[in-house]
Amino acid sequence: MNKLLIAILASVSIISVAHAAGDAAAGQSKTAVCGACHAPDGNSAVGNFPKLAGQNERYLLKQLQEIKSGSRTVVEMTGLLTNLNDQDLADIAAYFSSKNIQIGAAKADLVEAGEKIYRAGVASKGIAACTACHGVQGKGIASAGYPQLGGQHAQYVETQLKNFRTGVRNNDPQAMMSTIAAKLSDKEIQAVASYIQGLN
Ligand code: HEC
Ligand code: HEC
Repeated sequence: MNKLLIAILASVSIISVAHAAGDAAAGQSKTAVCGACHAPDGNSAVGNFPKLAGQNERYLLKQLQEIKSGSRTVVEMTGLLTNLNDQDLADIAAYFSSKNIQIGAAKADLVEAGEKIYRAGVASKGIAACTACHGVQGKGIASAGYPQLGGQHAQYVETQLKNFRTGVRNNDPQAMMSTIAAKLSDKEIQAVASYIQGLN
């Protein structure tokens, strides 16, 4: 074999190791403990526990790695990921990603204000439209790992936006979310979070 071919084969195998594909079936058996809060199919029934169903794998895997390492603090999950390796986390991400999210409902009196922020941002404050990265229907951009938001609990979304604003959550690449959340008022956060809960 010539050297170039060997080099190409070597780099291809490195890439495939780095992107170890998750196996949804294997993942299911590793999620027994998660179901108590997130529900077995990832459609949590409680507003402060995020829905995981249908979320893209890349985003889920990133969060799991960061919650495990502590760069994103989730006290409720302390110790739960300690004994899971990267393959386990990829399998779990594949499992929840394979489920369908159950969409909630927006509060009627907040839809108009929430939709405006979501689709157009707030030009006077330099706030970008959420659609740019999370999609018109809130599906996110799976290939980039930008999360699905449509159908997520309003309470959880509100908490995240406030945590990005204060810096309690700071795991967003290039401070994409903290820059936006810093400019959002409590009222705007409440409206856009309610809209997101019913978005699909
Ligand atoms: C005792 C309750 C509890 C258990 C058990 C639990 N979680 Fe969580 N999880 C939470 C809470 C609360 C949050 C969100 C914290 C916050 O507001 O940032 C969360 C966040 C997450 C997130 C981030 C979601 C997002 O949209 O960013 C993922 C992924 C996740 N959990 C996966 C798991 C997995 C996998 C397991 C099982 C190994 C598990 N969780 C077990 C409570 C729990
Ligand atoms: C420039 C791209 C970009 C724009 C515009 C943007 N986001 Fe995000 N958003 C992201 C990225 C990237 C993440 C994931 C951060 C991470 O990796 O933890 C995220 C995460 C989030 C999360 C946390 C999701 C979860 O499951 O925990 C919420 C909530 C959110 N964004 C809401 C919004 C809202 C509301 C708007 C509009 C006001 C908005 N985003 C605009 C890129 C963007």
